[in-house]
Amino acid sequence: MILIDGKKAATELKEELKQEISQIKKKYNKVPGLTVILIGDMAPSQIYVRNKEKSAIEVGLKSEVIKYSNNVEEKIVLDKINELNKDDSVSGILVQLPLPNHIDKQKVIEAIIPSKDVDGFHPMNVGNLSSGYECSIPCTPLGCYLLIKKIEPKLSGKKVIIIGRSNLNGKPMAQLLLKENCTVTITHSKTKDLKAECLQADIIVAAVGIPELIRGDWVKKNTIVIDVGINKTERGIVGDVHFKEVFKVAKALTPVPGGVGPMTIACLLKNTIDCFKRSQK
Ligand code: GUN
Repeated sequence: MILIDGKKAATELKEELKQEISQIKKKYNKVPGLTVILIGDMAPSQIYVRNKEKSAIEVGLKSEVIKYSNNVEEKIVLDKINELNKDDSVSGILVQLPLPNHIDKQKVIEAIIPSKDVDGFHPMNVGNLSSGYECSIPCTPLGCYLLIKKIEPKLSGKKVIIIGRSNLNGKPMAQLLLKENCTVTITHSKTKDLKAECLQADIIVAAVGIPELIRGDWVKKNTIVIDVGINKTERGIVGDVHFKEVFKVAKALTPVPGGVGPMTIACLLKNTIDCFKRSQK
């Protein structure tokens, strides 16, 4: 049984990115910049943004956080994005989600120029990913993919069950693994026999937001299980996977916390550097 150490993998990736930034600095006499827009005072978003800023500075990126109050006008945000789109010192733009109800999420996502869309949420990047072209890839599925590749470099022909069909996780995850010649099934809340599906899997990616849904008897031996879930319960934060039970049977499993989470942030930094590199071509 392998306990997949996402913290360690993220530290290693960040070390590589740090080296890459120092090379970029020598070659171009500037460093890539990440600008994060945070609207409102939701505690989880504030924590996520603080961690993103801290990690960006750690690896040597230029980091900027722009904060707006909860009642900011949509136009102010769109105008700012437009300004950042044109600013050469900004390589990547991220607007932290969720947004207040009066702001149109899709409008905001589409306002970011695709070449600076470090989240990979712009329809142009979604399309490029599904066509197999080079583009920004959403950070969480990219992090999951890198963790899976570490455990199993040869993915061709593997049977993957993804639980959850979100634009943020499930769908881009499927695209990444399809490109590796996996056989991918995306399951969701209307799937008839989820347990039977999971029992077919060589790899399970759970991104559904239901605490401890995946039980020990849903997983066959030698399955790699990636848990994207972050669920608040009275017992604290738990994933979508019943850790104790699945740990006994799986080949490899990510813990929550300390699995996918740290890789998400490291991949955001990677995406920022990749946007910078593409802009210099
Ligand atoms: N909120 C929670 N996860 C994310 C993410 O990956 N990107 C953005 N922009 N907001 C988020």
